[in-house]
Amino acid sequence: MNTKFMNYKLILLTVFMFWGTHAFAVSPKSPHGANFKVECTTCHTTDDWNKIKPNGFNHNKTHFPLTGQHKMISCKKCHTTLEFSKAPTQCSACHTDIHQGTVGKDCERCHNTGSWIVTNVKRIHREAGFVLAGAHATADCNRCHTSASSLRFDNIRSDCYACHKDKYDATTSPNHRAAGFDTDCARCHSMVGRNWLSNGRGFDHGAFPLTGGHKLDCIACHLNNDYSKKLSTDCSTCHSLTGAQNAKYPAHATKFAAFDCSACHSIQAWDAGIKFKQHDSNFGKIYSGKHKGKWSSCTDCHTNDANYAAKCTKCHSFSTGSLP
Ligand code: HEC
Ligand code: HEC
Ligand code: HEC
Ligand code: HEC
Ligand code: HEC
Ligand code: HEC
Ligand code: HEC
Ligand code: HEC
Ligand code: HEC
Ligand code: HEC
Ligand code: HEC
Ligand code: HEC
Repeated sequence: MNTKFMNYKLILLTVFMFWGTHAFAVSPKSPHGANFKVECTTCHTTDDWNKIKPNGFNHNKTHFPLTGQHKMISCKKCHTTLEFSKAPTQCSACHTDIHQGTVGKDCERCHNTGSWIVTNVKRIHREAGFVLAGAHATADCNRCHTSASSLRFDNIRSDCYACHKDKYDATTSPNHRAAGFDTDCARCHSMVGRNWLSNGRGFDHGAFPLTGGHKLDCIACHLNNDYSKKLSTDCSTCHSLTGAQNAKYPAHATKFAAFDCSACHSIQAWDAGIKFKQHDSNFGKIYSGKHKGKWSSCTDCHTNDANYAAKCTKCHSFSTGSLP
């Protein structure tokens, strides 16, 4: 045998044994910090320190469960120092604030780890105090958010006049300035509508609804289209107790005169659902007590419209008396 070759084999063997003791008998220093107590074999195998077991460590037990796209990312992207507890938990600590400080640091208000696409634009606006409905819901974002970058959401004013001053100045029917309308558009105009007009439901008549018998042309009440004159909502300012229609019911001019028409009538129609709730406290119980549901018309008791005296004989043997 060649001695030279023998020596070579011996050297190799010695090197191998030396390496062996150091590689396997002595663990290398852990890069995970002195206080890290989890068993190395939870994550590592004997193959390679830089390859870790898939599903070796249950991250959901930390106070930062991995969700959405975070499940797909290698540990080192977040744990750059490999000292696991040092990873920050705030989105903004790892992700650049692309909005340049215009919406604050709480990214989770609008985003989640699934994707950066925002699906709750309507909610975001509702919470910012500006309902995105009607024509606003279909307008391009940059019609209102006019910042140089489409991802900057600098504060903008949300009062109607700030964006619609031009429209106000250009009104002709009616001319708002001449009619004395103020600039609080939302008082009369509703954002549920497609436009500014009542036929597109963009005009809201407020507490005096234009329904039932009041589905009329504006000029029926606002004579000569004059909106500057404040109208009363009392029925009797426009409807008379002695009008032709109710002339056949003389009690109106006498016994009913102490009450507004709305005490008994609705705006639907004069003969529909007449209800006189104040009867119970003023004259005796008919909507509560023993007679509740037992009569069908006022004339069951008030047999004579001219004097409106109460007679009981339609149902009882006695003719007058007080109600229970
Ligand atoms: C919770 C899982 C986990 C545990 C437990 C763990 N490690 Fe690691 N270790 C990792 C990850 C992840 C890496 C980085 C892998 C890579 O390179 O992507 C790593 C890397 C390493 C490296 C290579 C460092 C480098 O700079 O490339 C060494 C060495 C190491 N770990 C030693 C240990 C020792 C020793 C223990 C036990 C005291 C241990 N690890 C426990 C997850 C773990
Ligand atoms: C998207 C970023 C992200 C990824 C990816 C990620 N982690 Fe984490 N990890 C965190 C954050 C943030 C914490 C919480 C840090 C703290 O304790 O406050 C954490 C905590 C931990 C902890 C607990 C630390 C402690 O001391 O409580 C361990 C262990 C850990 N991660 C290991 C891993 C391993 C192993 C992987 C890869 C399989 C991984 N992480 C992937 C962000 C991440
Ligand atoms: C510890 C660091 C860390 C934290 C904290 C963190 N992320 Fe991430 N996130 C990452 C890394 C790293 C990626 C991989 C993509 C990359 O390299 O930017 C990522 C990816 C994403 C992605 C996938 C799209 C993309 O950019 O590739 C979304 C969406 C995301 N993160 C949202 C969030 C949200 C929302 C939060 C707060 C709840 C959050 N992240 C917290 C580190 C983090
Ligand atoms: C008030 C809501 C809001 C908050 C808070 C918010 N964002 Fe956004 N973000 C948006 C909107 C809206 C978009 C546009 C997305 C779209 O068009 O679907 C967006 C888009 C993004 C995008 C994608 C950009 C692109 O190129 O498409 C990233 C990345 C992003 N945001 C990161 C962040 C980070 C990081 C934070 C926290 C510092 C944050 N955002 C906070 C509303 C918000
Ligand atoms: C008709 C006008 C208008 C349109 C169209 C509009 N916005 Fe807004 N937006 C506003 C107003 C007003 C606010 C509240 C005032 C503010 O925060 O500056 C607001 C607020 C925001 C905020 C900040 C919310 C917060 O809490 O900080 C974001 C983000 C936003 N809008 C995104 C969008 C996106 C994305 C679109 C398109 C899909 C859009 N907006 C369309 C008027 C609009
Ligand atoms: C931040 C700007 C902004 C604010 C604030 C704003 N709007 Fe608008 N509005 C718009 C834009 C932009 C459009 C879309 C115009 C178009 O498509 O031509 C619009 C459309 C409308 C329309 C549809 C008819 C038209 O003129 O195109 C009505 C009605 C309307 N707004 C009413 C209101 C009312 C009422 C308010 C207050 C509650 C209001 N707006 C507040 C920007 C705004
Ligand atoms: C006191 C109630 C009131 C206020 C406040 C008001 N409007 Fe009007 N507006 C009306 C009425 C009533 C109409 C006519 C509706 C119809 O014809 O159906 C009208 C119609 C309009 C029209 C369509 C008619 C035209 O001539 O162009 C526009 C545009 C308009 N308003 C804009 C505004 C703006 C902008 C503001 C706020 C700056 C505003 N309005 C405030 C009551 C008001
Ligand atoms: C049946 C009668 C009637 C009809 C029809 C009517 N209104 Fe009125 N309107 C009133 C009364 C009553 C008030 C006062 C409401 C109040 O004070 O709450 C009023 C108030 C208003 C105001 C508010 C003025 C202010 O300064 O606050 C406007 C604007 C208005 N009406 C416009 C219209 C328009 C436009 C139409 C047609 C689409 C119309 N009205 C149809 C009776 C009517
Ligand atoms: C500002 C004037 C005004 C006020 C206030 C008003 N109305 Fe009217 N109302 C009218 C006009 C105008 C008509 C249509 C012409 C008519 O039938 O007299 C009408 C029609 C009606 C009709 C339909 C009549 C039919 O024959 O179809 C009823 C019902 C009615 N009003 C009830 C009421 C009640 C109830 C009130 C009080 C809550 C009221 N109105 C207040 C102006 C007014
Ligand atoms: C105390 C209740 C009461 C009040 C107040 C009242 N009404 Fe009547 N009204 C009635 C009753 C009940 C009838 C049905 C006839 C009857 O039984 O006397 C009626 C009938 C009518 C009719 C006829 C309906 C038909 O059958 O065609 C008209 C019109 C009318 N009222 C108008 C008015 C007007 C206008 C006012 C206010 C100025 C008014 N009423 C106030 C109770 C009332
Ligand atoms: C069950 C019987 C009964 C019914 C039904 C009834 N009333 Fe009466 N009403 C009375 C009694 C009892 C009095 C007390 C005064 C009297 O004895 O004449 C009275 C008093 C009145 C008065 C005051 C009369 C006056 O002389 O000052 C009016 C007005 C009146 N009722 C309206 C109505 C109207 C409107 C209806 C129908 C909605 C109605 N009542 C239904 C029994 C009834
Ligand atoms: C339309 C029919 C009708 C008319 C009109 C009527 N009542 Fe009655 N009344 C009834 C009925 C039905 C009862 C029984 C209720 C029960 O016991 O549940 C009743 C019960 C009573 C009771 C209570 C008896 C008891 O045993 O508890 C008194 C008191 C009474 N009525 C008085 C009157 C007076 C007074 C008038 C005239 C002003 C009148 N009623 C008109 C139908 C009528």
